[in-house]
Amino acid sequence: MMRDLILVTGGSGFIGANFILQWLQTAGSPVVNLDLLTYAGNPHNLASLRGHSRYHFVHGDICDADLVASLLRAHRPRALVHFAAESHVDRSIHSPAAFLRTNVEGACILLEQARLYWSALPPAERAAFRFLNISTDEIYGSLDPGGQPFTEAAPAAPSSPYAASKAAAAAFARAYFHTWSLPVLTTVCSNNYGPFQFPEKLIPLTLLNALHGRPVPLYGDGRHLRDWLFVDDHCAALRAVLHHGSPGQIYNIGAGSPRANLDVVTALCDLLDEMAPPLPTGPRRNLIAFVADRPGHDRRYALDSSRIARELGWLPAVSFAEGLRRTVRWYLDHPDWIETTRNPSHLGWLARQYGPGAAS
Ligand code: NAD
Ligand code: TYD
Repeated sequence: MMRDLILVTGGSGFIGANFILQWLQTAGSPVVNLDLLTYAGNPHNLASLRGHSRYHFVHGDICDADLVASLLRAHRPRALVHFAAESHVDRSIHSPAAFLRTNVEGACILLEQARLYWSALPPAERAAFRFLNISTDEIYGSLDPGGQPFTEAAPAAPSSPYAASKAAAAAFARAYFHTWSLPVLTTVCSNNYGPFQFPEKLIPLTLLNALHGRPVPLYGDGRHLRDWLFVDDHCAALRAVLHHGSPGQIYNIGAGSPRANLDVVTALCDLLDEMAPPLPTGPRRNLIAFVADRPGHDRRYALDSSRIARELGWLPAVSFAEGLRRTVRWYLDHPDWIETTRNPSHLGWLARQYGPGAAS
């Protein structure tokens, strides 16, 4: 008999951890988390679940087909929620191979093992099963200045190796629906921010640099537009799609209020001046340093999220001002967590990307 359990991959990362915490507080059914604990995976993200009767952690690789098959056999999930990925664009520019392996090969292995599992289920359980593939607005590429936000019908036009790998995974997910009718749902979300985000991404990197008076690196002219969504809103959208989405469908998930990077980092610096002790050197916005642009840097992302609003009734609930304040508060309150992110891979990355002083 299939239980209401879900199998999550990459649940020890930023969004996966927020999703599991929210899931156990709301839907409540058991969760198995398969995570390799790469440099970005952090067991401390889910430390509050130690000993929890409905949470089970498995340390392993999504590219291990035998392990995935045995987990599906043992736990008989009603859904597989796939977050696991290499997720940092800048790292994908330095080392694309890891993105091909985890994001493409790993996704294919999960899809194939899910298909084998699902096709052997009794009819009622087969009808209920879902494979939720979590994707990104970066698969659509950069939007022209006057262009309308991307709908789900936009073709894939990825610019970075990261985006290319996510587009390939989404294409395989689509193929498994069309070829075998595997009940795949795909979500395409804009930039997330919030608690537990690994400090290689713009918002936590800026927050920690500005907090400690280090330079805040801004690529190019800082006018690139991103549509920041508070992570709780993304997780709520994923639950709505999992419960009520139509198999084979794609759902865009965006906040609908794009901002230039310069405005984001300026707002963060000003919030820190208000919420943290002042720096002897003056206002933190003076720390903003324009540095060489990212190669192939997408200028603008914007999503049309009207389908998920219309069909599933999802709308973002947290404004950017509120979400940013909550995020700053969380990082200020969790210095111990920040220490746990300072692993050799991360410190080596900071030095390589931003220069030797950046890892201090
Ligand atoms: P993250 O880098 O914080 O976490 C990724 C997690 O995957 C880590 O816990 C890591 O240990 C795990 N992982 C990596 N390789 C693995 C493997 N081979 N086997 C098992 N686990 C492995 O990423 P995130 O920001 O939480 O993103 C999660 C998902 O959401 C990704 O698929 C990403 O493409 C997508 N997404 C992210 C954003 C964003 O703004 N962060 C926006 C849209 C979509
Ligand atoms: P990031 O958080 O890496 O997300 P993504 O590349 O997936 O959108 O970057 C967000 C934006 O911030 C992007 O336009 C690149 C820019 N950026 C900087 O200007 N400086 C930085 O040090 C980083 C990491 C990003």
